[in-house]
Amino acid sequence: MSQKLYLVPEDWKDARIDDDAYRTLYDESRSDPQGFWAREAQRIDWITPFAKVKHTSFDLHNISIRWFEDGTTNVAMNCVDRHLPARADQIAIIWEGDDPSVSKRITYAELHEHVCRFANVLKKHGVKKGDRVTIYLPMIPEAAYAMLACARIGAIHSVVFGGFSPEALAGRIEDAASDVIVTADEGLRGGRKVPLKSNVDAALEKVEAKSVIVVTRTGAEIDWVPGRDFRYEDEAKHVSADCPYAEMGAEDPLFILYTSGSTGKPKGVLHTTGGYLVHTSLTHELVFDYRESDIYWCTADVGWVTGHSYIVYGPLANGATTLMFEGVPNYPSVSRFWEVIDKHGVNIFYTAPTAIRALMAAGEEPVKASSRKSLRLLGSVGEPINPEAWEWYHRVVGDGRCPIVDTWWQTETGGILIAPLPGATDLKPGSATRPFFGVFPEIVDAAGEVLEGECEGNLVIADSWPGQVRTVYGDHERFAQTYFSAYPGKYFTGDGARRDADGYYWITGRVDDVINVSGHRLGTAEIESALVAHEKVSEAAVVGYPHDLKGQGIYAYVTLMEGAHPTEHLRKELVKWVREEIGPIASPDVIQFAPGLPKTRSGKIMRRILRKIAEGEFGALGDTSTLADPGVVEELVRNRPAG
Ligand code: WTA
Repeated sequence: MSQKLYLVPEDWKDARIDDDAYRTLYDESRSDPQGFWAREAQRIDWITPFAKVKHTSFDLHNISIRWFEDGTTNVAMNCVDRHLPARADQIAIIWEGDDPSVSKRITYAELHEHVCRFANVLKKHGVKKGDRVTIYLPMIPEAAYAMLACARIGAIHSVVFGGFSPEALAGRIEDAASDVIVTADEGLRGGRKVPLKSNVDAALEKVEAKSVIVVTRTGAEIDWVPGRDFRYEDEAKHVSADCPYAEMGAEDPLFILYTSGSTGKPKGVLHTTGGYLVHTSLTHELVFDYRESDIYWCTADVGWVTGHSYIVYGPLANGATTLMFEGVPNYPSVSRFWEVIDKHGVNIFYTAPTAIRALMAAGEEPVKASSRKSLRLLGSVGEPINPEAWEWYHRVVGDGRCPIVDTWWQTETGGILIAPLPGATDLKPGSATRPFFGVFPEIVDAAGEVLEGECEGNLVIADSWPGQVRTVYGDHERFAQTYFSAYPGKYFTGDGARRDADGYYWITGRVDDVINVSGHRLGTAEIESALVAHEKVSEAAVVGYPHDLKGQGIYAYVTLMEGAHPTEHLRKELVKWVREEIGPIASPDVIQFAPGLPKTRSGKIMRRILRKIAEGEFGALGDTSTLADPGVVEELVRNRPAG
């Protein structure tokens, strides 16, 4: 824990919200949430104004979350059309290609035409209000066009990260019952090609879809299934450059995004229209102190929630210029981020601790070779940032002059819930600091007792906020059980947290069976079920362990079938297998062949012990007396792979 305090810099005191304003508005959001949100919701344009503001229940038998429910609007209208009178020629999206010599600038007027054409192509393929469209694209502007096109006609998008395997893609297409898939011939990342269309072909051997719309990125030769596959550019030529936007209820679904939980298959987190846009645009403006003509860059992929909320929806709702980057931080060299910042004059830069740690390992030289004088604010998201990485980010990248906003939130929260406001909050490296307006975090102990003052326990949120997940797509009961059953009447985040004497929150990481690898959320159960699907594996248990660069690494204990032999070859085969089942992000870092797993007499795997062994903390194995066979543990400790 770091004791250092970084005061709000003098030249930040004129930011929109100072400390007094923070306290006043926060108190108002607590004492009069209806009044607070009725006012803040005016930041977006409504077609029919709402009369009702908040209508929510966290009662386990009646989980219901509705905001602005009798209002109507359209998200694409808010992100595009309403900016045209004042900003038609302003840049909406700066696209920086994987190859540093390739970039593009798209104005709001151009964005309007692209979105309309995309929407008309979707319509031509039969997409209607409420239909699900799966988007499996690389980081190209068409990803934003496709998302906004869905929003424009009231279709629900389900963006699947381009790093997911055909198997994982198929599961998501099936769960969403999506008839139309939007993809590209290939993606390009770090100079390497990603075979997106052929992944779609493989996925569609397992599940059905009616149309595949293929955007041309590399122009590679790909297979075409006549009557099913269509080239986007050919389709777009023959449709109108205008498409009216649909009038959507505030609670009509905007998108589904699959995310990993402790158990079972990934869940389709469902977000709706009005509250989500109010929340993402308000947090984008205040947390990043977004000002007119700022160039804003979030390095996430649109396949994750950060890309949805803080590359596309929040910034575009605010009429911002948002930078979209196709590549990776270390290609062609580890200076790439800093070169892009100088090339486009980036003022606000938002990235993940895993990237910061990797670049920190490359030393200061590659950073110092750039100017970065356009930078005003830095942001962090996705996992706890260790104070060393925070200090380096602040001192080296920000030259000691840029505040860092460490933003805590989740796919389920839609937008940022705990973060500093740069003109209001003194910073402590490693702390996400204080709650945003209308967000009421509490820390509870295992028995559900709310703890006061300085304390550590599980993080829950006591009441609803506008950007909150509304349900798990197709399974409201699972939604209720997952988030509202552990601590009745409260939303359980799955994270642990500490609150210090100043009321600052320090997120300590997941307390459930979710691991966070390089800022990517993975369920241990998902990786286990991939492993046991291999013919030589009889049982598997997966845990996270501390990893210098990735935050957490994946440690898999694998018990083989009778007659199978634990060889180096099989170890490699299993790693490859998991990559194919889920995607490269799920590759186990360590596989330990285990003749047996530690289980209680009732057959439950004791993960606590497996975590300790993975961490190399053999002295802290705790009580092993309830084990069915204590000898199993000695065997695991003895044979733990080095490193
Ligand atoms: C973790 C990403 C500490 C946390 C937006 C959470 C963080 C999970 C932070 C959600 C942060 C995210 N400090 N931990 N600033 N931001 N997390 O759904 O464990 O991909 O529950 O959303 O990431 O990951 P998700």
